[in-house]
Amino acid sequence: MPAPDMALVVDGIEKSFGDVKALRGVSFSVPRGSVLGVLGPNGAGKTTTVNVLSTLLRPDAGTAVVAGHDVVADPAGVRRSIMMTGQYAALDESLTARENLVLFGRLMGLPKRDAKARAHELLAQFDLLDAGDRKVSGYSGGMRRRVDIACGLVTRPEVIFLDEPTTGLDPRSRQGVWSLVSTLKQEDITILLTTQYLEEADLLSDNIVVIDKGTVVAEGTADELKARTGGSYCEVVPVRLDDLPRVRQLLAGMSHTRMVESGSDRVAIPAPDGARTLTEVLRRIDVAGIELADIALRRPSLDDVFLALTGRPRETADAAGPVDGVRS
Ligand SMILES: Nc1ncnc2c1ncn2[C@@H]1O[C@H](COP(=O)(O)OP(=O)(O)OP(=O)(O)O)[C@@H](O)[C@H]1O
Ligand SMILES: [Mg+2]
Repeated sequence: MPAPDMALVVDGIEKSFGDVKALRGVSFSVPRGSVLGVLGPNGAGKTTTVNVLSTLLRPDAGTAVVAGHDVVADPAGVRRSIMMTGQYAALDESLTARENLVLFGRLMGLPKRDAKARAHELLAQFDLLDAGDRKVSGYSGGMRRRVDIACGLVTRPEVIFLDEPTTGLDPRSRQGVWSLVSTLKQEDITILLTTQYLEEADLLSDNIVVIDKGTVVAEGTADELKARTGGSYCEVVPVRLDDLPRVRQLLAGMSHTRMVESGSDRVAIPAPDGARTLTEVLRRIDVAGIELADIALRRPSLDDVFLALTGRPRETADAAGPVDGVRS
């Protein structure tokens, strides 16, 4: 029996398409009312996982229980409890957003009055009151995404699957979806969200599952994953490339030091003591009379985590790692 406070309990799910093993035993649990971010490179198995959990695909092996319903034994129960977006092109283009929402409510069995009231509520919540009486065919991608999500909320789901909800959206629309996720979370709805944007997972998720080649390779909060990748480090860039070996030598002499990574023009060492490590590095380099172009205390970004876990950077190039601390 799954623990009663778990909205999702996934245990050893496998799924193949012919010779392609898309999922090789995926397991994780999601507490009710929390947000799980699912990260993984292209082809990792994210969409396949979502499709199994939402009963669009039947698993070859393993079990998955969604809001108390087994995906194989009780798919109808699962479907009543969930909402999906981005999979069904469900909106009627010739209708307004308001009409679409009322239609959805009626399909869900709401009396006309209630359907209208709920439609109005959702238009307000999704900042669509102004545009709500225009035809959906004239909407931008971001507005359409909002109506799409609103339709899924006409009757309140327990679990929501968002498969790359912000891919292809402009920054403002992306912000809109982010604040929406926060709103849903406040309403105690459980959310599973896949994303290509690591800062999105970082910002929205209570927990993150990293999937690669059909298996879970890491799991934890964003901070836990970052800590696993080695914590903060101090990065030093000398003005003259000739000074690099000397810098390396100076830093290697510091206690419990190993070089983490050195790009072609820089050296980095772990900074377990944060600013104190930085100060010590500065002191040594100063004494040696070496001129620096840059020195910084860096925390690993989720990009670094991703690279460390999967051995390859992401395909998209939207995230520069955050740099904090001192710059000379
Ligand atoms: N219907 C299908 N038929 C054959 N192979 C499939 C099918 N669906 C998925 N696959 C394969 O299964 C693997 C996992 O695909 P999936 O779509 O789950 O990855 P993903 O993590 O969602 O990737 P992306 O980031 O590109 O959306 C891939 O190798 C993919 O080619
Ligand atoms: Mg996908």
